[in-house]
Amino acid sequence: MLDVIDFVNTNRDRYVTGLKELLAIPSISALPEHTGDVRRCAEWLVGEMTRIGLEHVRIVETTGHPIVCADWLHAEGAPTMLFYGHYDVQPVDPIELWETPPFDATVRDGELYARGAADDKGQVYMHLKAIEAHLTKHGRLPINVKVVIEGEEEVGSENLDEFVRINRDELAADVVVISDSAMFARGVPSICYALRGLVYFQIDVRGTKSDLHSGLFGGAVANPAMVLAQILAQMKDRGGRVKIPGFYDNVRNLSDDERAAWKTLPFNEKHYRKELEAPKLFGESGYSVLERVWARPTFEVNGIESGFTGEGAKTVIPAVAMAKVSMRLVPDQDPDTIAKQFEAYLADVAPKTVTVTVTRMHGGRPWIAEHNNAYVQAASRAIEQGFGKAPVFCREGGSIPVVFTFQQELGAPAVLFGVGLPDENAHAPNEKLDLSNFHNGIVASAILYEEIAKIR
Ligand code: BES
Ligand code: MN
Ligand code: MN
Repeated sequence: MLDVIDFVNTNRDRYVTGLKELLAIPSISALPEHTGDVRRCAEWLVGEMTRIGLEHVRIVETTGHPIVCADWLHAEGAPTMLFYGHYDVQPVDPIELWETPPFDATVRDGELYARGAADDKGQVYMHLKAIEAHLTKHGRLPINVKVVIEGEEEVGSENLDEFVRINRDELAADVVVISDSAMFARGVPSICYALRGLVYFQIDVRGTKSDLHSGLFGGAVANPAMVLAQILAQMKDRGGRVKIPGFYDNVRNLSDDERAAWKTLPFNEKHYRKELEAPKLFGESGYSVLERVWARPTFEVNGIESGFTGEGAKTVIPAVAMAKVSMRLVPDQDPDTIAKQFEAYLADVAPKTVTVTVTRMHGGRPWIAEHNNAYVQAASRAIEQGFGKAPVFCREGGSIPVVFTFQQELGAPAVLFGVGLPDENAHAPNEKLDLSNFHNGIVASAILYEEIAKIR
């Protein structure tokens, strides 16, 4: 094992160069004009995975963006790991806020800045380099490995879900390993044992056939922007509680043990607030910040558009107003049930003065797992060796739709070991990855495979 770690340590700079190449491909899954780039990224991965010695490296076509698969299955008698990650990235707007171009990865102060650096290309590449180190030094891996890297995570993983269901036998594994989350804080490595789910909607409000002169018609018709604001205002009460009837019916209560464990985490509310530059924090009353983001569901407005927003003033009653809204879900909320409850409530609160259309978009189920199994313990030991510190256990507020599907279809425990940081600007301008976490992550991943091999 020492020679593998030595190899990783001597290749530190080469890893950064390689990752920059992957980060240069604008594989934005949400934007049709980047479809070709997404495929080019899949092909780049095929090349890289073939070069490092993975086998059966292949592109699996879907009705959307391709999935890249590979395996290495010669560790007879040893456990099988399914590694999952995604090579697609979020759009880069607002582009003018990037200090350096999003697809020209740049190192500043030990951080690599680029779209996808942390979410998730850097973390995918970390595992590829750990696999490469084993195969280069020993010509073999200590465990059997199956790799699935998708190109549609940022748009809801719908095709992957079906792929997993259809290919459940081929994907069978003893453990699923994913690095697509953040550490609790800088210097505090962590293992994540729960994710929130998501339901996402677009609400369209139409008042009249076209925009109207607000002097000629103001007072005679409802204003769609105002109506939309009134509708949205009825989604939450002043205490931050979602008002959709039935919304909390299946929310699993936080156990006393979990509550107590989270109180021991190094969390400083004042520092958190200051980092966000929020004048004051806000959330559901009766819950701590960590409880609010990890264990409680929310309703959020992602964006609103209506009427005149240009410079100066224009007297107009807009014909339409639109909002994108979403709800983060926690165990045991069911996205379909919540969607129905939301649609019914919306119909209930919408006035007859306008036409309201609601369109359901992507989503995913919440996921939670026991974390006292041998694989999590193996990951703890690996992380401790790679980062010099044992990991803490945390939930995350974000969503990775396929994790629930893996659990359901493969019945294998998932180990979520992320090396991003909460302040690395995922989905925002100036996304970055701390290069020492990246490097330690390669070491920890290489050790993880060795540790998993000890489980029989
Ligand atoms: N890697 C994130 C999810 C994540 C973030 C997990 C932080 C844990 C901590 C993932 O790429 C993501 O952004 N997911 C989307 C899912 C959605 C598009 C269905 C999300 O959470 O918004
Ligand atoms: Mn991700
Ligand atoms: Mn993401």
